[in-house]
Amino acid sequence: MFGRKAADPAGARAGRPGGPARPGEALRLEAVRKVYGGEGNRVTALDGVSLSLPTGSFTAVMGPSGSGKSTLLQCAAGLDRPDEGRVFVDGAELAGDGEAALTRFRRQRIGFVFQQFNLMPTLTVMQNVTLPLRLAGRRADKAAARAVLERVGLGDRLGSLPSELSGGQRQRVAIARALVTEPKVVFGDEPTGALDTRSARDVLVLLQEAVQVYGRTVVMVTHDPVAAAHAGSVLFLADGRIVGHLVRPTAEQVAERMTHLADEVERQRAQAGV
Ligand SMILES: Nc1ncnc2c1ncn2[C@@H]1O[C@H](COP(=O)(O)OP(=O)(O)OP(=O)(O)O)[C@@H](O)[C@H]1O
Ligand SMILES: [Mg+2]
Repeated sequence: MFGRKAADPAGARAGRPGGPARPGEALRLEAVRKVYGGEGNRVTALDGVSLSLPTGSFTAVMGPSGSGKSTLLQCAAGLDRPDEGRVFVDGAELAGDGEAALTRFRRQRIGFVFQQFNLMPTLTVMQNVTLPLRLAGRRADKAAARAVLERVGLGDRLGSLPSELSGGQRQRVAIARALVTEPKVVFGDEPTGALDTRSARDVLVLLQEAVQVYGRTVVMVTHDPVAAAHAGSVLFLADGRIVGHLVRPTAEQVAERMTHLADEVERQRAQAGV
């Protein structure tokens, strides 16, 4: 069930600007640009990124440190605003209607899993997982929370505090918390980055299950070719631009592409006459 048969029929493809919501599309970025800093120390973190990801796809995002992976996730998830370009989640535009609207948008459509788990230390496992429901003004549906915690293998730890759990268990709580609101897209920024091999594999299998069984769309930043190979496709980022795409790659293919990424960027720059 968890084999490499992720529903990714169209794969990630370059999106064309404009046009109405497309059926079966979970996430679309159109020419997204993000610049940090001011005069003198300007950094172009995203330099016109366009992409379209189908519902039920699992995409890994890779690239050298500083290539813009976290910025891409933050902008796509509504945790940060692009300077230019547009973001659509489930056909709805993540628009600039103020912080409250952005927060509401995130709570309805987006789940996020962080490298360092970001659980509330004073809340139990159960309370951490029902928190997003309560924040969204929904009933703290304990049965739903219990069901999702059972799915991640923590049905017997509902009353524990995060400090009483291992790193792998904490990340499984964070995944349960991200899934409980039934978001359209789940983003993970190096969700296995702080975990040992075995715990990382558990997390990756849960993300695959979220896609294959529950139809979620997952976008995961990772530095690990083995983790990336759990995804249906891999996007490669360099200098704030998408410079490559592999469909259903093996870990070896991903590692090889990463090794050659620098050469590829040079070649693309030369072709573009930059
Ligand atoms: N808040 C910020 N202020 C200024 N510059 C920033 C900020 N956030 C990111 N940057 C810069 O934008 C670029 C992209 O950063 P980003 O965090 O997206 O990279 P990344 O690919 O996630 O790297 P890593 O693999 O190290 O996490 C980097 O040059 C970074 O220094
Ligand atoms: Mg990062």
